[in-house]
Amino acid sequence: MEEVEGIREFEPKIVAFTCNWSSYSSVDQAGISRTFYPSNVQIIRVMCTGRVDPLFVMRAFLNGADGVIIAGCHPNYCRYGGGNRQAEVRVKFLKMLMEEIGVSPARLRIEWISAMEGRRFVQVVQEMVGELKRMGPLLLRE
Ligand code: FES
Repeated sequence: MEEVEGIREFEPKIVAFTCNWSSYSSVDQAGISRTFYPSNVQIIRVMCTGRVDPLFVMRAFLNGADGVIIAGCHPNYCRYGGGNRQAEVRVKFLKMLMEEIGVSPARLRIEWISAMEGRRFVQVVQEMVGELKRMGPLLLRE
C-alpha cells in the first residue's frame, strides 16, 4: 500500500498468466517501447492459456491476488490448436463459480494480446488496477 498524506491507498495485487508465444513477449515489447506496466502485476509464463488449470486461478485468489488476468494468443493463432478457446470456456465457468460464491467476476479477465501488442498489455493491466481499486481488496484467504 502506498501512503498519501497519512492515508494508505489500496494497491491491488494482480496475477497474470501469460502465454509464452504471445502475451509474455508483449511484456518485453512494452519495455522496449518504454511503456511500463504498473508494478501491481506478477507475471506467470505458461506455454499456452489452455495450460491454465482453473485451480491455478482459485489458488491465486486464495493466496492474496485481488485480480487475475489470463492473456494469450488471438483466436486461431494458438500454437496448440485451441488452447485459448479451452481457456475461454474455463473462464466462463470460473466467472459463474465466482458469482455463486459472492466474488465479482470482473476480478478475472481473459485477453488476447500478441507479442507486438505491448501497449495493449499495459492498457489491460492499468484498466484492471483501476477497476480493482474501485472494488477494494478481495477478502478471501485459505
Ligand atoms: Fe498461446 Fe495457446 S499457444 S494461447
